[in-house]
Amino acid sequence: MTARLSKPPARRARTPAAKAPPTPSPPIGSIPLSAGRREHPLLGLGLWALGRWTPTDEARTKATIGRAYERGFRWFDTAEVYGSGRSERILGDVLLRAAGGAPDAFVTTKVSWEHLRPAQVRASLINSLERLGRTSVDLYLIHAPDAKVPLAQTLPALEALWKEGRIGALGVSNFGVEELEEVARHLAEAKIAVNQVRYNLFDRDDAEPVREYCRSHQILIEAYSPLARGLLHGRYLDTEKPTPEFKRFIQRQAETDPLPDILVRARALRDLAKEAGVPLGSIALHWLRRNGAAPIVGASRPEQVDGNLAAWSIRPDDSVLDRADAIARGDRA
Ligand SMILES: NC(=O)c1ccc[n+]([C@@H]2O[C@H](COP(=O)([O-])OP(=O)(O)OC[C@H]3O[C@@H](n4cnc5c(N)ncnc54)[C@H](OP(=O)(O)O)[C@@H]3O)[C@@H](O)[C@H]2O)c1
Repeated sequence: MTARLSKPPARRARTPAAKAPPTPSPPIGSIPLSAGRREHPLLGLGLWALGRWTPTDEARTKATIGRAYERGFRWFDTAEVYGSGRSERILGDVLLRAAGGAPDAFVTTKVSWEHLRPAQVRASLINSLERLGRTSVDLYLIHAPDAKVPLAQTLPALEALWKEGRIGALGVSNFGVEELEEVARHLAEAKIAVNQVRYNLFDRDDAEPVREYCRSHQILIEAYSPLARGLLHGRYLDTEKPTPEFKRFIQRQAETDPLPDILVRARALRDLAKEAGVPLGSIALHWLRRNGAAPIVGASRPEQVDGNLAAWSIRPDDSVLDRADAIARGDRA
């Protein structure tokens, strides 16, 4: 008896603990596109970082996209060149498994600058749709112009796909003013709704004429690299050493190394964020938003999605954004 009694009572099968619901996030918000069939979310998740992967990266990437959808991201930005199609395939996979197949996702993809001849444009879109598991995309961008292929050839092909309903809205990326003017000459009914460009507190002045053109033609600026690859979340400001990739990103075509000066300004921005009691990322994202742009953040792990949403959920005062603007420009005042 004792032996039996000393035996721990058989444990009743426990009902598995209900999965904790994801922390609700404030809505991201959206705006109408001047030439689009659906509203455009104001903050997106970019899926370029998938290009550098290993199988571990792939699992982490799926978790990252899943977390983003669960927490309210709806706009996902990919391209046929990202990971040679793997980015689109993974996105398609994750969205298919999300609640109800994620019909509310706003999916952007891009035709490569190497595929701008009419037959290539059509084949590229069909292949992208196949990888994404969709019958249409919400936004289709020319990833970058190619001087060898006249836009007069590419645009009618894109417009035909738009008329067939396979594309919700047309856009471009990395286009300058002359190219935007050229685009407008070759579209009959469709209009360019978006220009996606590199834009953040440190990358701004040289592209102001393009943004001015876009503002005056109701073309939404989508801002890529809005966090300057994590610098505007506070990366590389203390012990983390800048990677060679990050150094190349900062250097661009500059003749002298701009990094030391940018780090000084980024530290001053961090001090400002601390003083204002907001995350540095909030300043980076809402400075763009105030300038009319919709940022596409990158994230290579779920925690970064959470960090980016936390940053988005706090809008710093205009006076803080004004001071950030001056600090990033290099004003010492
Ligand atoms: N149209 C074009 O030509 C073009 C060009 C570039 C990008 N894009 C698009 O824009 C998207 C975003 O570009 P991007 O990756 O340069 O943007 P970004 O948002 O400036 O940088 C993203 C990187 O910052 C770091 N990061 C993000 N959230 C963080 C957080 N909460 N805390 C700390 N670090 C954080 C991560 O670096 P680690 O991964 O190193 O941790 C992440 O990969 C791309 O994915 C792509 O969709 C388009």
